[in-house]
Amino acid sequence: MTHFLDIHKTDTTSLRAIIDNARQMKSARHGRPKGAKDDDLPLDGQMVALIFEKPSTRTRVSFDVGVRQMGGQTMLLSGAEMQLGHGETIAATARVLSRYVDLIMIRTFDESVLLEMAEYSDVPVINGLTDRTHPCQIMADVMTFEEHRGPIAGKKVVWSGDGNNVCSSFIHAAGQFGFDLTFTGPAQLDPEDEFVGLARKAGSKITVERDPARAVEGADMVVTDTWVSMHDSQSTKERRHNMLRGYQVNEELMAHAKPDALFMHCLPAHREEEATSAVMDGPNSVIFDEAENRLHAQKAIMRWCLGV
Ligand code: CP
Ligand code: NVA
Repeated sequence: MTHFLDIHKTDTTSLRAIIDNARQMKSARHGRPKGAKDDDLPLDGQMVALIFEKPSTRTRVSFDVGVRQMGGQTMLLSGAEMQLGHGETIAATARVLSRYVDLIMIRTFDESVLLEMAEYSDVPVINGLTDRTHPCQIMADVMTFEEHRGPIAGKKVVWSGDGNNVCSSFIHAAGQFGFDLTFTGPAQLDPEDEFVGLARKAGSKITVERDPARAVEGADMVVTDTWVSMHDSQSTKERRHNMLRGYQVNEELMAHAKPDALFMHCLPAHREEEATSAVMDGPNSVIFDEAENRLHAQKAIMRWCLGV
């Protein structure tokens, strides 16, 4: 079974093939990424279940549109409205869904839900975000970087802020795609040691630098994310904001990076918190390209999972 669970769990040849296929499919649409079917319909006759236990705009719409463009059909399922949200086991849910659908994408809280779904499913399972990682986002982000700046291998990416799920997948990508990553943020919100160790073992330079201005020196890209993720308790908001305020990505910080350093954010953003509007709407921001590329990258991920 070919699941797409995480970037570090997917071999580098497959990751590269997925990005290449995404770029091919994007260019085959001749600048018209939206709507309507592709010329090729590799998912013709296939049914895809999209399960959401957390809110979503981009993941939900991009997967739905992507499946339809490739000739398949989707079923949007809210975890709370399924028996899954009322005591049925994940294992039983996976086995039942496998009798109806060809592919499952799930966005959930604890990673164990994703892993159990994959263990008991007879069809491929895709990680649409857990508390721990967000691999589809970073596949789109690598694609976006390379569209603008060429190969990402050997480049310097700086993550400023919370060492959260999106940061973890960036660290996985550093190891697999061969770029260096500097984390700058408070020690209490450091990225997971296990993931940092994996990327270092794969040969990437992963650096922790508490001073954001020093961290971004020579950066080819600066990336950040919300200070309070969906899985974080709202009661921690004030404490988190106090810890993270010094790591805001603003024009002053970007001035320390390379002049052509790209700015990325997976969105949704809280303007004037983790990043200022001046940076988000500035000439080096590629935030809406990232959002569009979710569509193309995930189409390629689905094809890879299904072998079509
Ligand atoms: N970036 C991202 O995954 O956005 P959504 O939460 O809107 O899906
Ligand atoms: N870190 C964020 C990403 C949202 C796409 C969250 O988990 O809420």
